[in-house]
Amino acid sequence: MGRVLAMLTAAAAVVACSVAAVMVRGRVKRRRKWRKVVGLLKDLEESFETPLGRLRQMVDAVAVEMQAGLVSEGGSKLKMLLTFVDDLPNGRERGTYYALHLGGSYFRIIRVHLGGERSSLEVEDIERHSIPTSLLNSTSEVLFDFLASSLQKFIEKEGKESSSSQDVKRELAFTFSFPVKQTSLSSGVLIKWTKGFAISEMAGEDIAECLQGALDRRGLDIHVAALVNDTVGALSYGHYHDPDTIAAVVFGTGSNACYLERTDAIIKCQNPRTTSGSMVVNMEWGNFWSSRLPRTLYDIELDAESLNSNDMGFEKMIGGMYLGDIVRRVILRMSQESDIFGPISSILSTPFVLRTNSVSAMHEDDTPELHEVATILKHLGVPKVQLKVRKLVVKICDVVTRRAARLSAAGISGILKKVGRDGSGGGEGRRRSIGKQMMRRTVIAVEGGLYSNYKMFREYMDEALRDILGDDVARHVVIKAMEDGSSIGSALLLASSHSVRTISNI
Ligand code: BGC
Repeated sequence: MGRVLAMLTAAAAVVACSVAAVMVRGRVKRRRKWRKVVGLLKDLEESFETPLGRLRQMVDAVAVEMQAGLVSEGGSKLKMLLTFVDDLPNGRERGTYYALHLGGSYFRIIRVHLGGERSSLEVEDIERHSIPTSLLNSTSEVLFDFLASSLQKFIEKEGKESSSSQDVKRELAFTFSFPVKQTSLSSGVLIKWTKGFAISEMAGEDIAECLQGALDRRGLDIHVAALVNDTVGALSYGHYHDPDTIAAVVFGTGSNACYLERTDAIIKCQNPRTTSGSMVVNMEWGNFWSSRLPRTLYDIELDAESLNSNDMGFEKMIGGMYLGDIVRRVILRMSQESDIFGPISSILSTPFVLRTNSVSAMHEDDTPELHEVATILKHLGVPKVQLKVRKLVVKICDVVTRRAARLSAAGISGILKKVGRDGSGGGEGRRRSIGKQMMRRTVIAVEGGLYSNYKMFREYMDEALRDILGDDVARHVVIKAMEDGSSIGSALLLASSHSVRTISNI
């Protein structure tokens, strides 16, 4: 009996030892994998780093590229497109105008009534719809017929309260958020699609004519009287309310900026006829490129797999369409290199399945257990992960978004430098500012969901602007967020061009 007991005890000890050994081995293996993940995170942080020195080099590069793009056609990756907008709205506009805005993910239709002073601007009706994904690679006919039919419905529901009279032809501004080579305020050809649109036969087509044709085919008595980039609409709206507004930036699905430039600085255009001596230039900054941009493996892969590879490199680092996909790529890589996310999820391998609004929801999740992160990961096919892994995901969102926000701040500072409002006393051909007392209040109108809905993006961008410009200069720079400014602003622009026409016809 004693021997049996001794044998059983020995056997139990052996089992216990092997279990312990397996557990220790498991723990060591898990630790090793976790260490690997920590290493990947460290690499990620390093490759996404945007120290102040690098941002300052970027500011210089933006200003230099702007100059190059103004000197000659194709002189820079920044297209610096003419807009034929010189006089920005001032509040004295009158009448009822429409705007149809084709953005990256949404389209909007609005009707505004202007009574001749700022306080009388009334948005009488506004509709916002998401763009059906089937349109993105449809045909020109399908796209414009869809827009025309949406406009028709909008007009058909106009009640008696509408201030538009049925006897007067309706005037419409087409806010078109894609690169266009304008030939006048009301015409221009598409250079190329961005943001996932891929309707091949359209590059080189006159966009305003395409819309006008679709409206005419439906027998709608509407005149497409202005073709406006969304940034230009945003600048008009900003300027209407605050004449110190000199530039506008869109942080939405895509990203871009425009600003007011002196016509004599637009060397590539021999005779830009403007009465004000300045013209709004659409930078198309999404295509900015510099060797100072912190390009990572993730950016390279994303670009290679995109519909417009080798194009819009800056937009792919800062645009709302792409941030989610960068985060997804990082999580996927970590899940491939360790098992902390469990078995590799096929959903996670799907491009663009993680949207930037989910990134902001995870980044700003303030529940102690990170419930929002858990829910979003579950939708990505990653059902159960430890709290430390959820924290890791928050960190990834932080790294990707912080880089985007800081690069955006460098872009804005580049514009300020070009126009001599960065406090450096530069700005080619401009009066040099001597000391702080010469700094003028400068307003930058900002529009787009990435800025307005993503608090951390906003905070990182504001912080980087202060770092780059220094507090003394940053005090004079006001970032003004707007909603629907690009659409309303395009209608205002149309109204102001109309009033200029009316006056000059007298
Ligand atoms: C387009 C710009 C547009 C920006 C913001 C970019 O993809 O090229 O024209 O202003 O998105 O919507």
